[in-house]
Amino acid sequence: MPETAKPASTSASQDAEITTALGTRSVVLVGMMGAGKSTIGRRLSVRLRLPFLDADTEIEAAAGMSIPDIFETHGEPQFRDGEARVIARLLDSGPAVLATGGGAFMREETRSRIGAKAVSIWLKADADIIMRRVKRRADRPLLQTTDPAATVGRLMSEREPVYQRADLTIWSRDVPHEKIVDECIEGLHALLCGGAAKEIPDRRGAT
Ligand code: S3P
Repeated sequence: MPETAKPASTSASQDAEITTALGTRSVVLVGMMGAGKSTIGRRLSVRLRLPFLDADTEIEAAAGMSIPDIFETHGEPQFRDGEARVIARLLDSGPAVLATGGGAFMREETRSRIGAKAVSIWLKADADIIMRRVKRRADRPLLQTTDPAATVGRLMSEREPVYQRADLTIWSRDVPHEKIVDECIEGLHALLCGGAAKEIPDRRGAT
């Protein structure tokens, strides 16, 4: 039987078991810009029958302006304070699948809130994939530099040791989105319903 031909009822019951095991906790996606947190998060929320929340969208709604405008008008420190407040509020309104902005998990206070109220997944991606994806949009203030590739490299080396503290790590790569979602489900099920946490293999080379 091909790998993808899982009986629908088995995977649906696995999805439901995860949702039950989560209780009031959310699933929070962390990782670099361009890692696919919103794209994967939206699909994962459908599988888990939970609402999908995007922290960046919620920050923009709360501030009544776009993220580039918040950075320009108020500066990054104020954006970070607002980001922490919005994520705290969203975690209190769980359960949901919540995609966070790339810098959110760097804040200790936010990490400990996520640890208490959610299960976290680091969507890990290679620098070349990140660069290819972020080039499509010019709305990331941190990448308005003379050498965005160098900026991404610096941010990755600062942030990856922190992202690594997430409960699960899933490799985000150029395969159908549903495959990454399946791996998130597999990891969540092993972590929440299957006893010991399971190491998700590095499948970067896999198609
Ligand atoms: C940021 C990532 C962005 C957004 C802001 C800052 C970061 O979100 O929050 O531009 O510090 O990495 P995405 O990760 O959704 O692009």
